[in-house]
Amino acid sequence: MSTATPPAPAPAPTAPAAIYDKGLANTIVADTQMSFIDGGKGVLEYVGIDIDSLARQSTYEETVYLLWNTKLPSKAELDALKSALRSEYEIPNELYEMIRGMPRDAVPMHALRTLVSALALYDSEADADGIEASKRKALRLVAKTPTLIANFERHRSGKDFVHPNKSFDIATNFLWMLNGEKPTDAMARGLDICLILHADHGLNASTFAARVTIATLSDLYSAMTTAVGTLKGPLHGGANEEVMVMLDEIGSIDKVDEFIKGKLERKELIMGFGHRVYKAYDPRATYLKTFAKQIATDTGNLRLFEMSQRIESLVLDAKAGKGIFPNVDFYSATTYHCLGIKTDLFTCMFALSRMSGWCGHCIEQLQDNRLIRPQAKYTGPHAVTYTTRS
Ligand code: ACO
Repeated sequence: MSTATPPAPAPAPTAPAAIYDKGLANTIVADTQMSFIDGGKGVLEYVGIDIDSLARQSTYEETVYLLWNTKLPSKAELDALKSALRSEYEIPNELYEMIRGMPRDAVPMHALRTLVSALALYDSEADADGIEASKRKALRLVAKTPTLIANFERHRSGKDFVHPNKSFDIATNFLWMLNGEKPTDAMARGLDICLILHADHGLNASTFAARVTIATLSDLYSAMTTAVGTLKGPLHGGANEEVMVMLDEIGSIDKVDEFIKGKLERKELIMGFGHRVYKAYDPRATYLKTFAKQIATDTGNLRLFEMSQRIESLVLDAKAGKGIFPNVDFYSATTYHCLGIKTDLFTCMFALSRMSGWCGHCIEQLQDNRLIRPQAKYTGPHAVTYTTRS
């Protein structure tokens, strides 16, 4: 019998030392080819094209194609995407019934989160694996979300449902369902621009949340439900509603100074300002500011724009040294209001647009997946004796 000692087991691989990064501000966890942000210079590009050019010249559908295919479409490719989206605008009857059963005073983002989740119940491919199935689900989600939002709004306003019109693009179709009449070209184009500007934005909180969910190999509907819930918070997409609430509370331009100076003195947040990434002017806000002025003038709401401008000037005076500028939510509040959209629907409008970015990120995640699982620093006690309680 041999007395030789067995070889020592190979040492367990040691994990690299974890870095403590509260809020993950300095941690890169994924690759993306969709949007590039230079927060210091105030640059946002979708697939290398600056956001200003897209807002001026593109359409939401073309932007969706760009984000999902990392190239601009030919006319035939764009037509094919448009027609595929239009064929998916309608929602199942069961979802109209579900909307009908919802409380009229429900918070719209609660309704949207529930309805996006419910879409899975009526998609036979909901749990189908693979990139191609996920792309088909992405198309359905982008196409159906406007129908969910507009018809929830109609229900809570006591109006009959309006079914989608497949001859319209997404922006026109949404306003058609919301108001029951075809919008003017200027209104539809205004919404289209908002949709372009909100479509994608790197690994923001809701996109990150969506990628965490899909990285577990859950399904796209679960990921989008996660994303809607994450967008809802007032530190993220919910800020646009808070901006409008603030404008309403202030009421008139002569009250702006006292209101804002008071908030700043009390060290309260001014909603629609500041950004985790931008320490320069948010390029989406640059475009929206010009656009908000135009639409406010056209719709007799110049008062709101002038109040916003005065708020901006006061906050910049007090905070610009800290890199606090208006973010996308600040002037989108005035814009949505002028488009006739109710304040508590603003965050749903953000979700309507960002659905394309969320889906695109999930498909990117699936193409090179690894479970996303950071660590927490344990700050509790150790070696506590277990005692039973009598
Ligand atoms: N009003 C007043 N002061 C502000 C604001 C603001 N809106 N935003 C930041 N600051 C101040 C902070 O109080 C802090 O000051 P301090 O150094 O004296 O403590 C400093 O600026 C740095 O701010 P942080 O909170 O550390 O910045 P962070 O990157 O964590 O937060 C955030 C970014 C959450 C967006 C923040 O600016 C904020 O709460 N803004 C208001 C809500 C908002 O508009 N959210 C929408 C963001 S865009 C989007 O999600 C689509």
